[in-house]
Amino acid sequence: NTYVVIMAGGIGSRFWPVSRVNHPKQFHDVLGIGESMIQTTVKRFQGICPPENVFVVTHRDYDSLVREHLPDLTDNQILLEPIGRNTAACIAYACFKIAKRNPNANIVIAPADHVILREESFKNCVREALEATAKSEILVTLGIKPTRPHTGYGYIQFIDDAQNSLKKVKTFTEKPSLEIAQMFLDSGEFVWNAGIFIWNAQAIVKAFHQYLGDMAETFDEGIPVLDTDQEEQFINRAYSHCRNISIDYGIMEKADNVFVILGDFGWSDLGSWDSLYSLSEKTSEGNVIEGNVLAYDVKNCIIKTPANQLVVLQGLEDYIVAAHDNVFMVCRREDEQKVKDFVADAKAMK
Ligand code: GDD
Ligand code: MG
Repeated sequence: NTYVVIMAGGIGSRFWPVSRVNHPKQFHDVLGIGESMIQTTVKRFQGICPPENVFVVTHRDYDSLVREHLPDLTDNQILLEPIGRNTAACIAYACFKIAKRNPNANIVIAPADHVILREESFKNCVREALEATAKSEILVTLGIKPTRPHTGYGYIQFIDDAQNSLKKVKTFTEKPSLEIAQMFLDSGEFVWNAGIFIWNAQAIVKAFHQYLGDMAETFDEGIPVLDTDQEEQFINRAYSHCRNISIDYGIMEKADNVFVILGDFGWSDLGSWDSLYSLSEKTSEGNVIEGNVLAYDVKNCIIKTPANQLVVLQGLEDYIVAAHDNVFMVCRREDEQKVKDFVADAKAMK
């Protein structure tokens, strides 16, 4: 009864210029381990559900990339979106479809671009969550001990019950301001939302009805045509009606049946250059270097440039240096969140 839904429709703009609209980061071997992030993600769920119960939801433009990276998936395991409408629509599409096939389904929702270093420990958390959702209509998320006041994550406050690893969530705050994130961190009462969700089909369909009613109605209407040759036409129409909202703002912040399982499995959202820097092995000068680079007096930099270009750097500290295709970018590491703005200005995601 277990299904895994992999969300792979993001464009990874904070990883520009390596991540591009026509080749976003989930299709890159960002860690240099010989496989793309989406391949690692699918492999991670081996043993959690039968291979035919894995679904990938992505933009129609990435259909061929998904097939290339995951040749074992069949057509009906790849759900194609006509436009990006954020994670609520992506999750509604997948979960309404799974609910139609199997009303007793237990569903894991996972992003395609996360790093998990201790896979066994991660699987244990997921199995524990699945056991809980098989029995009750709750929304479970995995929580990570925070290390800094990151403003790109959701923050979860929970009722600490030492007896139970499944903890009732008191508050869920998506992407707080820096001031509030700092307060959350200082209080010691909050964990980060890992963005990996576990629930049964009934629980999530009900949550859509309760908190995103318009979206639920849209998908309800389409239930008869899901898994028929009219599905694509329906999805085109449905997405044009869907709000652009994430599941975190749309449901997780509002629902009162949210539970968290705390995990310590070497999790990282490989969302930006600095997260890759933190995760990578460094030289004695604190650099992370990929490419043909001559570095003099260079410290604490992350450098990723094409092998066929000699790059000479002198007197540089705490910078990101990244070149890919026709773009060359140099940016202070502490300003990495600005990369998103550069992309907008450059209009060069392609
Ligand atoms: N199919 C599809 N369609 N996938 C999408 C879409 C879409 O329109 N939008 C985003 N995704 C995918 C991304 O590729 C990513 O794998 C995942 O959904 C999450 O989206 P992000 O845009 O990366 O979300 P986030 O990182 O800002 O925030 C979420 O993750 C954090 C942890 O990494 C939230 O759940 C936060 O609360 C959480 O802390
Ligand atoms: Mg993310």
